[in-house]
Order: sequence, then structure tokens, then C-alpha cells
Amino acid sequence: MDQVKVFAPATVANVGCGYDVLGFAVYSPGDEVTVRMADGSRVMLDLVEGDDGRLPLDPEKNTVSSVVISYLEHIGSKHGVGISLCKKMPFGSGLGSSAASAVGGLVAVNELMGNPLTRKELLPFAMEGERLACGNAHADNVAPSLLGGFVLIRSYDPLDVISLPVPGDICCALVYPHIEIPTLAARQIIRQNIPMKDAIRQWGNVGALVAGLYSDDLKLIGRSMEDVIVEPVRKMLIPGFDRLRETAVENGALGFGISGSGPTVFALCMNRSFAEVAAEALVNELAGNGVASTSWVSEINSEGAVVLPPSGNDC
Ligand code: HSE
Repeated sequence: MDQVKVFAPATVANVGCGYDVLGFAVYSPGDEVTVRMADGSRVMLDLVEGDDGRLPLDPEKNTVSSVVISYLEHIGSKHGVGISLCKKMPFGSGLGSSAASAVGGLVAVNELMGNPLTRKELLPFAMEGERLACGNAHADNVAPSLLGGFVLIRSYDPLDVISLPVPGDICCALVYPHIEIPTLAARQIIRQNIPMKDAIRQWGNVGALVAGLYSDDLKLIGRSMEDVIVEPVRKMLIPGFDRLRETAVENGALGFGISGSGPTVFALCMNRSFAEVAAEALVNELAGNGVASTSWVSEINSEGAVVLPPSGNDC
């Protein structure tokens, strides 16, 4: 095997109440990354497509190559590798774009090297990619993209990541309004100190959301997705946010919120039919305000990043 191609999925981080501690993966969209053996000992970016020329081509500065460099140093490999990154999702969208690239690169290079590290062992490398991309090594995008499913980060120091169960048919509508919100900027506007009454409400919601996932209680999941800390600030960045929430609920969504740092919004629904209806209603609501958008409907992705069969082309 001299090359490996991987699909790494987009993710919904925070899931309402769980800022930096909850996230789940979806099946679409996502990035594709190919890593191949190369002569010499350097890590090279052979191809970056789908980024409109916006990503750095210096291997030390690009998220995908920088995490591959750290990984190869860690396992003591002197192999040269070439990387092709096919961006298949928008930047600054709240869908974990940089996380998907880093995860794709790590899963591909690990496979190429004979899988010396487990998926969980790859996580710290992927988190460093987040630090490079937005200044903070949060794990709520990279962990679900790597591991699949619905993930809770109980602790960052030491890192303690827990996979949660997902009720049967639950399905997600994702709607990306065509505006860009850099994660760094969306993190800088959040209050660093919060009133005790907000903290109490938020940790009640996080606990109840986890209880709802374990007990298949869809109504409990929905009403626990309330965020009284981050959403009240970030929603100002999303046109007509309150009306979008009403639209999702009127169309049967269990819960609604901002995906990661936005502007993508998501509606968690009891099944695919409800998610399709919610997605269409949200797209129409945005269009009524003159905002174009793109939507996806996906069940929760239980596998995370996957190795793809060999194909003739990278993208
Ligand atoms: N938890 C992070 C945030 C996710 O909300 O800033 C970034 O997509």
C-alpha cells in the first residue's frame, strides 16, 4: 500500500448546551484527504482543492500537513509523504471544516504506517490542528469526526472522552447561511465569566441531554438542547435566528441550535422525514430574508472518518 484516501465527516459541536464538550458527526458533508509515500523525508502538500486558494500551502502552517508532521515525529518515522486535500465543505461555517481536514490526514497517514496508534491516540494531534486553525485546542469537532457518534469531553486535562449512545432514527437537518463567521471571532465575543444561575441551568441541561440519549427520551433530548450562555451572544451573528428557531420547532424539530461557532444552524429531528421538512423550511425562511443557504440532512454518523476504496483521482 503506497497511498490511502480517507473521508472525514463534518460535525455539530456544542449541540446547544455543551460548549466545547459535546459534539456529533454527520455523514455529509466532509473532506477527503489522500496521503501517499514520497521520496525523501519531507511532508509535502501536493494538492489543495476546493478552498478557492485560501488555505496556506506551507506544510508547517496548513492544518492537515502540520498534524501529519507532528504525528510522524511522534512515531519516529523519517518517511516522506505527499498530501492531497479535497475541501468539500465551506470554511467558517460551524461544521468543523478544519477538524475534518486534520482528522482525514491523521487517519490516512496512520493507516499508511500500519495503524500504530488507535483513534483515541490520534486525538491530541487533531486537537493541535484546531489550535493552529483558531487558537484553541478544543476537541468537540475532532473527537466525533475521528471516533464517530455522539461524544462528550468530560475533561481536557487529563483528556477524558466518552462516546454516548444515539437513539435509533434520530436525524439532523443542517442549514448553512452563506455568510462566514471565523471561529476565532465567534469565540472572542463569548463572556468569560457567567452568573451562577446560568451555570446551574446549563449543567442541568448537559446532564439531562446525556440522560435523554441513554434513555431514548427524544423529548428530553430536545428540551435539554437549550443554551443560555453562548447562543444568546452568538445568535446576533445569524440573520433572523429567533425566527429560524420558531420555524424548526413549528416543523416538528426536537431541538434547534447553532452548529459549532455558526453560522450553520441545525435541527435535531426524530427521523429523516422530519429532518427533510425542517431543512426545507429553514432554507425557505432564510431565502425570505434574502439569505442564500445550503442544506444537508444526515443521520448521526456512527463510524467517523473512513478509509475509502482506491480510486484513480484524488478529488
Ligand atoms: N466549541 C467550539 C466553539 C466549536 O463553539 O467555538 C467550534 O466549531
